[in-house]
Parts: sequence; structure tokens; C-alpha cells
Amino acid sequence: MQLRLALLGALALPCAAHVVHRDEGQCKQTTVAILGGGMAGIAAAQTLHNASMDDFMILEYRDTIGGRAWHVPFGQNEEGKPYIIEMGCNWVQGLGVPGGPQNPVWTLAQVYNLSTVYSNYSNVSTYNENGYKDYSYLMDLYDDAYDTAAAHAGMILLDNLQDQTAKTGLAMAGWRPKEHDMEAQAVDWWEWDFEDAYTPLESSFVFGVAGTNLTSNGFSDQDNFVIDQRGFSTIIHGMASTFLRPNDTRLSLNTQITNISYSDSGVTIHNADGSCVRAAYAICTFSLGVLQNDAVTFTPSLPQWKQESIQGFTMATYTKIFLQFNETFWPTDTQYFLYADPYARGYYPLFQSLSTEGFFPGSNIIFVTVTEQYAWRAERQSDDQTKSEIMAVLRKMFPDKTVPDPIDFLYPRWTSEPWAYGTYSNWPPSVTLEMHENLRANTGRLWFAGEATSPTYFGFLHGAWFEGQAAGKEISRILNGTCAGNSTCAGRKHYATLHGTTPLADYSLVDGWNGNSFYDFNTD
Ligand SMILES: Cc1cc2nc3c(=O)[nH]c(=O)nc-3n(C[C@H](O)[C@H](O)[C@H](O)COP(=O)(O)OP(=O)(O)OC[C@H]3O[C@@H](n4cnc5c(N)ncnc54)[C@H](O)[C@@H]3O)c2cc1C
Ligand SMILES: *[C@@H]1O[C@H](CO)[C@@H](O)[C@H](O)[C@H]1NC(C)=O
Ligand SMILES: *[C@@H]1O[C@H](CO)[C@@H](O)[C@H](O)[C@H]1NC(C)=O
Ligand SMILES: *[C@@H]1O[C@H](CO)[C@@H](O)[C@H](O)[C@H]1NC(C)=O
Ligand SMILES: *[C@@H]1O[C@H](CO)[C@@H](O)[C@H](O)[C@H]1NC(C)=O
Ligand SMILES: *[C@@H]1O[C@H](CO)[C@@H](O)[C@H](O)[C@H]1NC(C)=O
Ligand SMILES: *[C@@H]1O[C@H](CO)[C@@H](O)[C@H](O)[C@H]1NC(C)=O
Ligand SMILES: *[C@@H]1O[C@H](CO)[C@@H](O)[C@H](O)[C@H]1NC(C)=O
Ligand SMILES: *[C@@H]1O[C@H](CO)[C@@H](O)[C@H](O)[C@H]1NC(C)=O
Ligand SMILES: *[C@@H]1O[C@H](CO)[C@@H](O)[C@H](O)[C@H]1NC(C)=O
Ligand SMILES: *[C@@H]1O[C@H](CO)[C@@H](O)[C@H](O)[C@H]1NC(C)=O
Repeated sequence: MQLRLALLGALALPCAAHVVHRDEGQCKQTTVAILGGGMAGIAAAQTLHNASMDDFMILEYRDTIGGRAWHVPFGQNEEGKPYIIEMGCNWVQGLGVPGGPQNPVWTLAQVYNLSTVYSNYSNVSTYNENGYKDYSYLMDLYDDAYDTAAAHAGMILLDNLQDQTAKTGLAMAGWRPKEHDMEAQAVDWWEWDFEDAYTPLESSFVFGVAGTNLTSNGFSDQDNFVIDQRGFSTIIHGMASTFLRPNDTRLSLNTQITNISYSDSGVTIHNADGSCVRAAYAICTFSLGVLQNDAVTFTPSLPQWKQESIQGFTMATYTKIFLQFNETFWPTDTQYFLYADPYARGYYPLFQSLSTEGFFPGSNIIFVTVTEQYAWRAERQSDDQTKSEIMAVLRKMFPDKTVPDPIDFLYPRWTSEPWAYGTYSNWPPSVTLEMHENLRANTGRLWFAGEATSPTYFGFLHGAWFEGQAAGKEISRILNGTCAGNSTCAGRKHYATLHGTTPLADYSLVDGWNGNSFYDFNTD
């Protein structure tokens, strides 16, 4: 039996090899194939262009570039024209201070005149099922505990000690929200889940704190909300315009990649429409969700160490649900409205007014954000079910108002978008730097880049920019000969065996740090 199989295999092989060979002869040829046209892909292409390497191709599933910087028309203004709202990323986070490092997304925002408004997280009012109730003192308690916890997390990182859950780290610093205290649970959600889209129990203490540090202390703690009617992605289009001509054949839209064959000598990409591309190198920028959901087949199968890192990191879901009314019945001098549901943590917990000076005054638009369980639940529900649940919450929050039904209603279903499968990554407590390095490492001539591969800025748009740039630089160095005879620059380090930690000295060699390694940051 075994012999027969072996024989069949031997007979089948040359034939299969021949088929592959013939197919590949028909493939388009390029030096670098960039898989995905989101921020990471466009930053990688611009980096290659900056290094005078213009033989690349960008393959993109959707009919436009931008990826998770995704906007749509919603509602209408007095002239009947829709507002442009962001389904995906919405804030430039951590702008930077004069003289200090600037967030590259903020630099781009200035170059392309992106309209943004200062987002004031202190401008928040608290509610429960009986209406307005001031429990903001809980936020002060959290903030005090967080400062203590953050310093402790820094020590764990520097001394290479064991990570914990953020829940443990915060509890040890004194923040211990009781399970039945729904106001404390609402504050816990606002302070942690609103950023990470997972609970403190599901998040790494050390990397959760470090990630926040690197963006909000590394640049600055100012976040600006994007209201540009061209969409947030206008900065990505702006970047692309520096190297793509109109109708450039190097950009292939509406192209769903289904199979990627990689080796030490090249990468072949097959698409759903039967077309294919053969490249010397490729950069895969698909979201962690796309990788986790086996939406693309790799040949050979990705190695164990790579698969484990893909399944080990977590893809969050953060869903904004938009409502337009015929009037603004909520206060317009407040940016954020936190709601503590009496029964469930995270049940329509946070409303944001767009019908406010500086945003879209007079728009009568408000949106509510749900994460994780309640985001997935909303995805399974009909629009009408979700709408009626939200209306019940709003009527509890504003018992003195006659709250009309909305005139428009919209939300994305992120986990079923086949080009995203979720919103952005989060660092769970079971993942070490070593395992994350495996997520980032190349397999043969196939590189990986995107928000999730950033050890410093995972989850953020600027993380995608840094990672695209890093992959582009590494490949251009190999191509231009700077790497000759230098094995450390021919590929990224990976760990076939995990040891539960990573020496920081190793880690500080990673490219894409902007001089802000954890080590540098903590020894300032
Ligand atoms: C709801 C939400 C809110 C967010 N809020 C913020 C925020 O306020 N601030 C912030 O800094 N960041 C935020 N982010 C994160 C930010 O949007 C991402 O980090 C960033 O856009 C990711 O860029 P990327 O290039 O890594 O991935 P992507 O943008 O996902 O790019 C990958 C590209 O690959 C394409 N692709 C996927 N599969 C295939 C395939 N099979 N074939 C061909 N192409 C394929 C996709 O269409 C996509 O264009 C948010 C994200 C979401 C979703
Ligand atoms: C490419 O070069 C331009 C001009 O110097 C610079 O503004 C841009 O940031 C570079 N792109 C990347 C991704 O580094
Ligand atoms: C920048 O945007 C603002 C507000 O949208 C607009 O008034 C201004 O004309 C723009 N400037 C440029 C140079 O595009
Ligand atoms: C932010 O809001 C708080 C409270 O609403 C207010 O005290 C503070 O001045 C605001 N900050 C800025 C910079 O507007
Ligand atoms: C975070 O920043 C604080 C304040 O600067 C610092 O004390 C701490 O070590 C940092 N923690 C981590 C994990 O980077
Ligand atoms: C680009 O393609 C569109 C649609 O095919 C066409 O209308 C347009 O003229 C082209 N532009 C250029 C500059 O070739
Ligand atoms: C190509 O990918 C598709 C879907 O991802 C898969 O069903 C198919 O088996 C793959 N083909 C090969 C030759 O790997
Ligand atoms: C809160 O924000 C709103 C909208 O930007 C603004 O009108 C109001 O003055 C702010 N309140 C404080 C106290 O800063
Ligand atoms: C909004 O609609 C409600 C009925 O749904 C109505 O009672 C109310 O007067 C309307 N408000 C305005 C400003 O038209
Ligand atoms: C090769 O590319 C790297 C990265 O883009 C660049 O820093 C370096 O100057 C280039 N070297 C040569 C010789 O072109
Ligand atoms: C080898 O490449 C690495 C990574 O690019 C670089 O840091 C190092 O300086 C290079 N070594 C030599 C001897 O050029």
C-alpha cells in the first residue's frame, strides 16, 4: 500500500511540476509583489520607490486602496448630501510634540490637509439605566492605579520577567472593579476595552501598557478625530500618488489572491480570476484575521512556528454603529457618553456625538461603539434588532426626552468582511516577544507586514505604516546589494522553539523602531 502510494506520488510529481511550470510561464513577472493595498502595502511600495526600485505590483482585493481606512456615505445634510463617515480607523493617535518624534500619520495628515478635531477624552458624561449619573470619580481611581501599574509593567519588561493579564496588573495596583458593580465595569470598559477591544483579562499587561506608552508618551497623548469628507484614506491615496501614475498597471484592484507559493528563490501568487504573478520577493500585508481564517492557501503550508504565532495573536472586533435622527436630543457640549447597563458589561456602552461644534454640527448623528461579544452579537442580528436595542438604551439614558426613531442607521459587519475578518490586533497575555517575532518573520522570500506585525504600534494605523516601511527597506537593501555577505540582513529572525521570553538585546535589533524601542523608552 505504502509502496503504491509512493509510486503514485513519484508518477504524479513530474506531471504536477510540469503543470505548475507551464502556469508560471503565463504569470506576470515583477520584482516585488505587494499583497494588499492598505497602509502597510502603500508604505512598502513608497519605500521601494524611494529606493529607486519601481518594479513592483500591488494586488488588492477591493476596488480601491486604503484597506481598513474605509469610509462610506451615511445619512444626509440639509441639501440632501450624505456625510462621509469612517467604518474603520477614525483617530490619528499620538500626534507628537514639536521637536519630538512625530507620528508619521500626523505628518501625512498635515501634508494632505486632513480635517481632524481634537478628541477630548475628559469631555465625557456618565449614565446608567436611570439617566445621567456622575460616577466619573471611578475614572480617577482607575487613572491612579494605572500609573502605578504602568511603572510596574515597565520593570517586568526591562527585567525580562513574566507577563500577566492586564486584569492582574491593574488589580495589583488597586483597580479591582467588582463583577456586580456595573458602573465600575463601564469605567473598566471605557478605560481598557475602548482602545484594545478586548477585556483586561484577555490582554497582555506588559505589551498593553507598552503599546499605549509608545504611542501616547512616545509621540504625545493627543488624539484627533478625522472628519475629512474625502475620508481618512485620502492620506493613503496621497502617498500612492507620489509613485503611481493614473491607471498604473502596477496596481491591480479587484484582485482576490487565493494561493501563495513561496520558497527561497521566489513567490508565485494565484488569484481567484485565474491570473497569477511571479515575483522575486513578496510582502503579505493581509490582516491577522485573513491569515487566521485560512482565506488564502500557502504552499508549502506555513511552518508550525508561523502558524502558532498567527493563531496565538488575537484579532479584535470594534464596531461603530451610526444613527441619524431628525433632531439632536442629546447635549451638544459633550463628546462622549458612557452608559453602564445594569446587566451586561459592554452593552452599547459608549455614544459619541457628531452633531457637535467642530464635528458635523446640525447633523443629528450619534454613534455607539461595541466590542468583542457585543460586536459579534450585533453582526448576527438584523439591523432592526440592533436598532431597537439601541433605542431602548437611549430612552433610558435620556428619560426626560422624547426620543424619536432614527431616520438612518448603519453598521459594518467586520468579522464577515472577507478582506479583513475583524478590525485590528491585540496582544494577549500568552504571547511573548519571541512568538510575536515569528508573526513578523519572513518565510523564504515572503515577508509579512501590517499593523499586527508591529511589536510597538500593533493595532494602529501608524503601526501599518512603520511595518510597510520596514519590509520595503529590508527588501530594497537585499536587492541593491547592501546585504551581500551579511546573513542577518537576508531575512528576519524566527524562533523554531519558544522559550517563553525574548532577550531585549535581541529585540532592539528589530527594524522599524523609530528610535523608540521599549529599552530606550524605559531608560530615558
Ligand atoms: C473599526 C476600526 C477602527 C480603528 N481605529 C483606529 C484608529 O482610530 N486609529 C488608528 O491608528 N488605527 C485604527 N484602526 C487600525 C487601522 O485601521 C489599521 O491598523 C490599519 O488600517 C491596517 O493597515 P494594514 O495595511 O496593516 O491592513 P489593511 O488595511 O487591512 O490592508 C490589507 C489589504 O489587504 C487586502 N486583502 C486582504 N485579503 C486579500 C486577498 N485575499 N487578496 C487581495 N487583497 C487582500 C485588503 O483588502 C486590504 O486592503 C482601526 C481599525 C478598524 C477596523
Ligand atoms: C519616501 O520619501 C518621501 C520624501 O522624502 C518621504 O516623505 C516619505 O515618508 C518616504 N516614504 C516612506 C514610507 O518612508
Ligand atoms: C484644507 O482644508 C480646509 C478645511 O477643509 C480648507 O478650508 C482649505 O482650503 C484646505 N487647504 C488646502 C491647501 O487644501
Ligand atoms: C477637555 O474636557 C475637560 C472636561 O470636559 C475640560 O476641563 C478640558 O479643558 C478640556 N480640554 C481641552 C484641551 O479642551
Ligand atoms: C510606561 O511609561 C511609564 C511612564 O513613563 C514608565 O514608568 C513605564 O516603565 C512604562 N511601561 C512600559 C511597559 O513601557
Ligand atoms: C484611466 O482609465 C479610465 C477608465 O478606463 C479612463 O476613463 C481614463 O481616461 C484613464 N486615464 C488616463 C490618464 O489614462
Ligand atoms: C488555492 O486556494 C483555494 C482557497 O484558498 C483552495 O481551495 C485551493 O485548494 C488552493 N489551491 C492550491 C493548488 O493550493
Ligand atoms: C466638550 O466638547 C464640546 C464639543 O467639542 C465643547 O463644545 C465643550 O465646550 C467641551 N467642554 C469642555 C468642558 O471642554
Ligand atoms: C422628529 O420626529 C418626531 C416623530 O418621530 C417628531 O415628533 C418631532 O417633532 C420631529 N422633530 C423635528 C425637529 O422635526
Ligand atoms: C539600499 O537600500 C537601502 C534601504 O532602502 C538604502 O538605505 C541604501 O542607501 C541603499 N544602498 C544603495 C547602495 O543603493
Ligand atoms: C548586517 O545587516 C544588519 C541588518 O540590516 C545591520 O544591522 C548590520 O549593520 C549589517 N552588518 C554589517 C557588517 O554590515
